[in-house]
Amino acid sequence: MRESLQDTATDPRSRRTRGTLRRVGIAGTGSYAPEHVLSNADLERMVDTSDEWIRARTGMQERRIARPDQATSDLAIQAGRRALQDAGLAADELDLIVVATATPDTLFPATACRVQAGLGAHRAATFDISAACSGFVHALTTCQGLLASRAFDHALVIGAEVLSSIVDYKDRNTCVLFGDAAGAVVLAPCSGEDPPGELLDNVIGTDSSGIDLIQQPGGGSRHPATAETVAANLHFMKLEGRKVFKFAVNAICESVDQILRRNGLTLDDLDLLIPHQANLRIIEAATERLGLDPSRVAVNIERYGNTSSASIPLVLDELARAGRLQRGQLVCLAAFGAGLSWGTTLLRW
Ligand code: UT7
Repeated sequence: MRESLQDTATDPRSRRTRGTLRRVGIAGTGSYAPEHVLSNADLERMVDTSDEWIRARTGMQERRIARPDQATSDLAIQAGRRALQDAGLAADELDLIVVATATPDTLFPATACRVQAGLGAHRAATFDISAACSGFVHALTTCQGLLASRAFDHALVIGAEVLSSIVDYKDRNTCVLFGDAAGAVVLAPCSGEDPPGELLDNVIGTDSSGIDLIQQPGGGSRHPATAETVAANLHFMKLEGRKVFKFAVNAICESVDQILRRNGLTLDDLDLLIPHQANLRIIEAATERLGLDPSRVAVNIERYGNTSSASIPLVLDELARAGRLQRGQLVCLAAFGAGLSWGTTLLRW
């Protein structure tokens, strides 16, 4: 442990001018997916399902599964390191690390603390955000505000999951859907005319009338882990997929419409929609209802399945590294998930 905490009295930010918000942008991206591939053919051997059903109902072909010795922080550290490298930033220049996850290494301390240790980012404050599949956009929204207000200068925002640790591989309703991965961005202040990666606006929200539709009932204070809760499978994820489906399409369409309208923009201005990758049919239904050309909607669900908070930053990083994002493009990230929650970010690449 270090001998003393940072002396905030001599920290220049403690003498900052209040009331002047800074603009904030994405300075680098990174992602990581474990090597092991779980294919539809593998699942056919585990539960009563078929490649045909999975492809037709979800668009998924394979997903990645972490090794038994890999926890969420291990995936997050890999993605974080790549994002730092992309941003040209050293780990000790970070002053904030936020991890969005539904599968933390432990209920406490926060997974972000382990990421600090793994990266050697010893100056960084750390905390986790729990908003399930909407977590990355919730974290982005939080960190943008903290950097804009000058509380911090450089943030690493990570969405990371080892969903295979809470999936029941005997339950065909859920086990075909989920995979493990991590995605990360470095946020930094930006300025000038159309700076790259600028975050323009965020919308986040919750409709708690659907609170029980996606959950991991056991292990928390409501049903503390006991031999009985484990025997009753309460430590596994439960999902009422059909009900979430309808909510998801509405959440994407309404939040995208809201964020564009309040920024004086229309769908014609939007170059790319990056939706949460939960089901290809959800993405296609939202695309059709919005009236967007499918070529303007990013999809990689066939290779990773649903990776919850990691899904959006994973797509973003893949597109960025493949050179498929052009400077100046208007991009919308649209997430939804347990809560029921949603989160949408508008950015200029
Ligand atoms: O990221 C947020 C969390 N993700 C979600 O919430 C996912 C949102 N929902 C969905 O993606 C879809 O609702 C699912 C993919 C989960 C299910 O697709 P669906 O078209 O809504 O199917 P369904 O639940 O209406 O089930 C249709 C049938 C059922 O059989 P019966 O009752 O009609 O005889 C299921 O038992 O398909 C059956 N089924 C399966 N069959 C083969 C369910 N899972 C499987 C399976 N293989 N893996």
